[in-house]
Amino acid sequence: MTRRIALIRRFVASWTPAVPSARAQRIMDREWQYGAHNYRPLPVVLTRGEGIHVWDVDDRRYVDFLSAYSAVNQGHSHPRILAALASQSRRITLTSRAFYNDVLGDFEEYVTKLFGYDKVLPMNSGSEGIETALKLTRRWAYEVKGVPPNQAKVIFCENNFAGRTIAEVSASTDPDSRGGYGPYLPGVIVIPYDDLTALENAVRDPTVAGFVVEPVQGEAGVIVPSDGYLRKAYDICKRNRVLFVGDEIQTGLGRTGKRLACDYEDVRPDILVLSKAISGGVLPLAAILADDEIMLCIKPNQHGSTYGGNPLACRVGIEALKVIEEERLTENAYRLGNILRAELEKIDKKKVVTVRGKGLLNAIVIPERKDYNAWLVCLRLRDNGLLAKPTHESIIRLAPPLVINEEQLLDCAKIIRDTVESF
Ligand SMILES: Cc1ncc(COP(=O)(O)O)c(C=O)c1O
Repeated sequence: MTRRIALIRRFVASWTPAVPSARAQRIMDREWQYGAHNYRPLPVVLTRGEGIHVWDVDDRRYVDFLSAYSAVNQGHSHPRILAALASQSRRITLTSRAFYNDVLGDFEEYVTKLFGYDKVLPMNSGSEGIETALKLTRRWAYEVKGVPPNQAKVIFCENNFAGRTIAEVSASTDPDSRGGYGPYLPGVIVIPYDDLTALENAVRDPTVAGFVVEPVQGEAGVIVPSDGYLRKAYDICKRNRVLFVGDEIQTGLGRTGKRLACDYEDVRPDILVLSKAISGGVLPLAAILADDEIMLCIKPNQHGSTYGGNPLACRVGIEALKVIEEERLTENAYRLGNILRAELEKIDKKKVVTVRGKGLLNAIVIPERKDYNAWLVCLRLRDNGLLAKPTHESIIRLAPPLVINEEQLLDCAKIIRDTVESF
């Protein structure tokens, strides 16, 4: 027995990550040479995806446990979404909003009825979605709430991730996202997450127009707030005439086991921002939903985007949403999320100190050690056929496509367990 343990220890100590093939290395080197260095990808070069799986250029198969930051909830290359893309692309792809097109209205009607809002404003990315919500909030503050011109403020939470525009990095507390991009946007207040007293204090300022919040903070490391936080935060906003802006770009559309993560506490955001899985990972699309009192504060020519509301994205968006509804992916995420967390909880606490999440948006926190960090674990997970990405030195997000089944999920839980226990 001791000999076996010694052998395993020797094997683990001698483990080095798999070396990329010459072809994969050439592809990575070319990106490094010709592309901006604004990302640090895990060294794996993908070429194909189907369902929960992706393949690299050397035809190795992996389970995707990132799902493109929750954009691929429906799984890679979903046939219904691809069919919608193909058929619409043969008709018309872009008209701009200078003219009407015969798909935008279908999308608007479908999405507003599904989520129960008067109106939707389509844009292209999550960042644009939050930017749009901020502009709407400010206009509502001046036109409806009566905030004096140019004085509106918006509250964000520490460790938020709202995107990359100047407004969004002005609200960021992450030195990498924010640093070196000043001067920053005025009118941004940052309070601790999951802190109702801080919110109560901040909204006393009558120029506060909105509170932008992620129901679970994804990029921060899947931080789940206390039960009741969202409901109470919403009530505080209501009492003080402050708009509750739900950033459900990552948490929405089934990911956390409800259609929206806010549904856990029966909160209906005044402004709801969706993106990512609204187009199933096929092309960029965002939807900003609100009722007339808010949405109609923006009038013709006061906001827009050339590609926003393009018929191709709208057709894809309808199909992507229908897939989530008709394949009952939300229910699957709820059930399998509980199973995944229960399996991960069985891992030795010396290897995984915390397991947290909702539905299939989860994270493990590992103890910080020189020879054991999230990056090394992700490399070894890759070598064991599972792709995940660290969110910080010691946190690994686990978010597979919602089409995963129980057997596949249990296999993956075993890969994760064996991998972390091999260190
Ligand atoms: C909660 C949240 N908001 C906004 C964004 C920005 O979205 P995008 O990368 O599409 O601009 C993200 C992206 O990860 C996000 O997770």
